[in-house]
Amino acid sequence: MKFFIDTANLDQIREAHDLGILDGVTTNPSLMAKEGISGEDNINRHYLEICRIVDGDVSAEVISTDYEGMIREGEKLAGLHPNIVVKIPMIRDGVKAIRHLNSKGIKTNCTLVFSAGQAILAAKAGATYVSPFIGRLDDVSTDGVELIAQIAEIYSTYNFQTQVLAASIRHTMHIVQCAEVGADVVTCPLEPILGLLKHPLTDIGLARFLADHNKLSDNK
Ligand code: G3P
Repeated sequence: MKFFIDTANLDQIREAHDLGILDGVTTNPSLMAKEGISGEDNINRHYLEICRIVDGDVSAEVISTDYEGMIREGEKLAGLHPNIVVKIPMIRDGVKAIRHLNSKGIKTNCTLVFSAGQAILAAKAGATYVSPFIGRLDDVSTDGVELIAQIAEIYSTYNFQTQVLAASIRHTMHIVQCAEVGADVVTCPLEPILGLLKHPLTDIGLARFLADHNKLSDNK
């Protein structure tokens, strides 16, 4: 199971990378805007900076919504760095663009996926990754993790090579649940990743080990 961080914040990317468990990064236009990054040149420079920190797939999203525009943007983004994965929305022209970019050997991440039907289309088009947004499904009283399980089962039945990238992860249990149902990748903010570290019994146990060790050392 791969761990990606879902942010354009360089400090957080460095912190997750320093932990030694980071396999890649996903971004989207909202995350770039949150960091105040705008303008094509600045955005491209920012992607390159991310690629310098992390040696793994880095998803960069197109802004166009028409086929020609997505192809043009996608080819440009892919040309920035070999680790760039072109993120394409799950719309009619997006499916066609994924097929085209795949035929050119360009990796793609099909985003804004909310149903198994959309995930089947993404796989048929040859997407490298499919990104179901589980938190946003939970927000509308629909089980996001259940969708991950459903897609993982369909892909396994038909041996689709598209990797299930669980996105819109909101908390640590989402990560564990996605692992249980067979997500290939989870992409999440830094906090849920750090949340995996926490257990009060670990802290209590460590404090006791150190206290016992120090008692003996004090007696010598
Ligand atoms: O990876 C998709 C993610 O950035 C969306 O997350 O929390 O805005 O639903 P959220």
